[in-house]
Amino acid sequence: MRFDVITLFPELVEAVVASGVVGRAADAKLIDLHCWNPRDYTSDRHRTVDDRPYGGGPGMVMKPDCLLSAVDDAKAKNKELGIVTKVIYLSPQGKTLNQSAAKIMSKEEGFIFLCGRYEGVDERVLELVVDEEWSIGDYVLSGGELGAMVMIDTITRLLPNVLGHNDSAEQDSFSAGLLDCPHYTRPGVFLGKEVPKVLRSGDHQRIAKWRRQQALQRTAQRRPELLKNRVLSEEDKKILHDFLDKS
Ligand SMILES: C[S@@+](CC[C@H](N)C(=O)[O-])C[C@H]1O[C@@H](n2cnc3c(N)ncnc32)[C@H](O)[C@@H]1O
Repeated sequence: MRFDVITLFPELVEAVVASGVVGRAADAKLIDLHCWNPRDYTSDRHRTVDDRPYGGGPGMVMKPDCLLSAVDDAKAKNKELGIVTKVIYLSPQGKTLNQSAAKIMSKEEGFIFLCGRYEGVDERVLELVVDEEWSIGDYVLSGGELGAMVMIDTITRLLPNVLGHNDSAEQDSFSAGLLDCPHYTRPGVFLGKEVPKVLRSGDHQRIAKWRRQQALQRTAQRRPELLKNRVLSEEDKKILHDFLDKS
């Protein structure tokens, strides 16, 4: 999977491949990250990337010419590599990212992420080259870089061979439409708090059942809307029924 990021702060975005799961994926060449700085596509002495908004008002707007040139170069590189990539603008006005969207994205060959700054980018850039707009939540960031990093991390975790068996994405919250169950490690008793006995029983069937119960109960407690349109097995229905009866 190739990620191209159009950003005024490449050093920020490059930090995403410096460590952890994404870093290992980059080392193993499962992902490839390239940053393109719009400042490198300016021709004036000050390398200007922004200008005042037409109509007045506060803040600055990112100029279209340098952004378009950076996107064009990223696209040309991908074409040379035979990779088809969509251009995604990170924006609070875009569709909100979730696990199912990330799962679909993980089947693609790559993405070009366009990170805005200031008041955002000249609208004509969106009309000319952007295929989709994605948001990472209903709040406003100072720039699209954190959004791009969130998307890169989320998508990378879902690529084949990125996670080992022990930290498989299948168990993660949202993967099966439920929140994840609680996790424990050694010591068995910590500050007087004991690990649930079933997890130390060695009985894999009981452990799997307990985890399923916990996932269902947590989802019902914390994110009941996730269960609304879900088709539940008879066993799941009974677990939930018993839990809701008790609470
Ligand atoms: C200060 S914001 C501009 C917000 C814009 N004036 C608006 O209200 O829609 C600067 C940049 O941060 C990025 N950004 C802000 N919030 C975001 C979010 N929730 N998800 C993804 N990107 C975001 C976008 O790239 C945006 O161009």
